[in-house]
Amino acid sequence: MSFDEKFAARPGVVYLVGAGPGDPGLLTLKARGLLASCDVVIYDNLVNPEILRFAQRDVERIDVGKIGGGRHTPQEEINMLLIERARRGERVVRLKGGDPFLFGRGGEEAEALRRASIPFEVVPGVSSALAVPAYAGIPLTHRELASSVVVITGAKARSGEVPGPIFRSLAQADTLVVLMGTAHLRAIADELIAAGRSPDTPVAVIRWGTYRGQRTITGTLRTIADECERAGVRAPTVIVIGEVVALREKLQWFEKQSAHQAAREEFAFVAE
Ligand SMILES: C[S@@+](CC[C@H](N)C(=O)[O-])C[C@H]1O[C@@H](n2cnc3c(N)ncnc32)[C@H](O)[C@@H]1O
Repeated sequence: MSFDEKFAARPGVVYLVGAGPGDPGLLTLKARGLLASCDVVIYDNLVNPEILRFAQRDVERIDVGKIGGGRHTPQEEINMLLIERARRGERVVRLKGGDPFLFGRGGEEAEALRRASIPFEVVPGVSSALAVPAYAGIPLTHRELASSVVVITGAKARSGEVPGPIFRSLAQADTLVVLMGTAHLRAIADELIAAGRSPDTPVAVIRWGTYRGQRTITGTLRTIADECERAGVRAPTVIVIGEVVALREKLQWFEKQSAHQAAREEFAFVAE
C-alpha cells in the first residue's frame, strides 16, 4: 500500500487532527496524508497557515479560530459544522494546534460526533506543552533535577480565572508546564510561592514557540511577572517552572539558529 493510500481520508469521516505547535516539520505523516486527500479543512487560529499548504489548492478552508477576546465561532456551531459536512459525505479534517486532546476541545467534538453517530478518528499531534520547551532548550525531566511533570491550564475554562486550588495542590511537582497562563502569570507565581515553592525557582516564558520568531524570557517565580511586563510579552506562551529551566543556559539551540538564519538572510538581501 502506498503512502497516499495508507493515509488517505475516507468520505463521511471527521478526522480530529493535531497540527503540532507551529513548525511544519513537526506535522505527522498521517496528518499530512489526510490534508492532501480531504475535501474541507476546518482549522483554529493557532494552526500555522503554512501547514494549510499541504491541502490541495482547491480544498475549502474554514477558519473557526478562537482569538482571545475577539471573533470566534461558538463550539456548538463548530460541532454542527463538522456533523453537517460529514453527513454530506465529505472528507473532513478538523485541524487543531498541538494535540487535539490536550486543552484542545477535541474531546468535546468527539462526543458531539459520537452523539450524532458520525465516524471519527483522532490523529494526535505534537503538543506545544512538549515541543515548545524542547525548542527553548528545556528538558522537562532530568535524572538529577526532575522526575515529575504537570501540564496545567493557567485559566479556568468558563470563568478565565486562575485555578488557584489546583496550582496549590500541584505546586510540588518538579516541573510545571502552564498553557494559557500569560495573562495570569503574576497570580500563578504568587499561588506557587504561597504553596511553599521557593521564590527563586527558575521560570521560562516562551512565546510563539517553534516559529522563527520564538522568544524566551527567563526569571524566577519572584521576578518573572515583572520581566514579562517589561518585555511586553503576550499570548500565546508556554510557561515552564522548575529547576530544569536553568539547563536552557547550556542547551538553548533554536533561537540561536533562527538568529543566525535571520542574519544570513539579511546579509543576502543587502548583498543582492
Ligand atoms: C487552547 S490551548 C491548545 C493547546 C494545544 N492543543 C496543544 O497541545 O499545544 C492554547 C495554548 O497552547 C499554548 N500554545 C500553543 N501553541 C503555542 C506556541 N507555538 N507557542 C507558545 N504557546 C503555544 C498557549 O499556551 C496557548 O494559549
